[in-house]
Amino acid sequence: MDTRPIGVFDSGLGGLTAVRELARIMPEEDLVYFGDTGRVPYGGRSRDILVRYARQDVAFLRTFDPKAIVIACGTVSTTALDVLQEENDIPIFGVVAPAAHAAARVTRNGRVGLIGTRASIRSGAYERALDHLRPGVRVTARACPLLVPLVENGRFQPGDVVAETVVSEYLAPVRAAEADTLILGCTHYPLMKPIVGAYMGPGVTLVDVGEQCARWVKRQLELDGLRNERPGAGRHRYYVSDSTEDFTALASVFLGEDMTGEVEQIDITAY
Ligand code: DGL
Repeated sequence: MDTRPIGVFDSGLGGLTAVRELARIMPEEDLVYFGDTGRVPYGGRSRDILVRYARQDVAFLRTFDPKAIVIACGTVSTTALDVLQEENDIPIFGVVAPAAHAAARVTRNGRVGLIGTRASIRSGAYERALDHLRPGVRVTARACPLLVPLVENGRFQPGDVVAETVVSEYLAPVRAAEADTLILGCTHYPLMKPIVGAYMGPGVTLVDVGEQCARWVKRQLELDGLRNERPGAGRHRYYVSDSTEDFTALASVFLGEDMTGEVEQIDITAY
C-alpha cells in the first residue's frame, strides 16, 4: 500500500486522455498532472530538446514525491523513456510497451498501422518493440503532424470535412497495407477515433496508447504492492506552463467530463 500520488505529464492536453483512464480504473489514486502548454507541441522537436523538456517535467512532478510517473505523451515516450528511467529511482512508465503488447496481441494478420508525431515515428520505437514481441510483424507508420492542431482546435467531429480529408490522406497507405490494427500513437488521437474508425472500417482495431498505458500502470503498481487501497476518491491536481484560462474548457473535452480539481500555472523553466 502506497498513498503517494501518481505523476502524469504530457506536452499539453492530450495526456488527459490517459488521466481519464487512470482515474476510471484507479479512482482512489491521487493524480498530479503537468501539461507543458507553454511549450506544446513537442512532436516536431529534436531529441536534445525533448530530453531537456522531459527532464524538467519529471523534476517538477518529483516535487510531489510521486510513487511513479506516467509519460502520457507519445513523443516523450518514444524519445526519452530510457534516459528518464536511468535517472530516476521510481518507476517511469511510457506508452510504447503497453501499446505494442496490445497490438501484438490483437493483430490477426500481422499487419499493424501506426500514426504519431514526427518525432515518435522517426524514433522507430514501436517497430523495435513489435519486432521483439511478434517477429515478422509488418508496420506501416505515418507521421501525422496536422492531427494535433486539429484536435486542439476542436476539429474532430465526424462530418468535419477538413478533419476527414486530412485523416484519409494520412491513413490511405495504412488502409492499402491492409493493417487490421492501428496504434493511435499520440495521446491526442483518441478524440479522432470516430473519424479514424469510420475511415479504417469495422475490421480494424484501434489501439489507444493512453488507455493501454493506464491498464499497464495499474497492473505494475499491483505487482509492486504500490496501489493506494484507501477508500474514497483520489485528489486530482493539474499544473500547466501557460495560462490556466484555456486549459479548463479544453481539458473537459479531453477528460470527457467537466474538469474538477485545482489548476495552477507554474514556471517549468525553473526545474
Ligand atoms: N501529446 C503529444 C504526443 O502524444 C502530441 C502533441 C505534441 O506534439 O506535443 O506525442
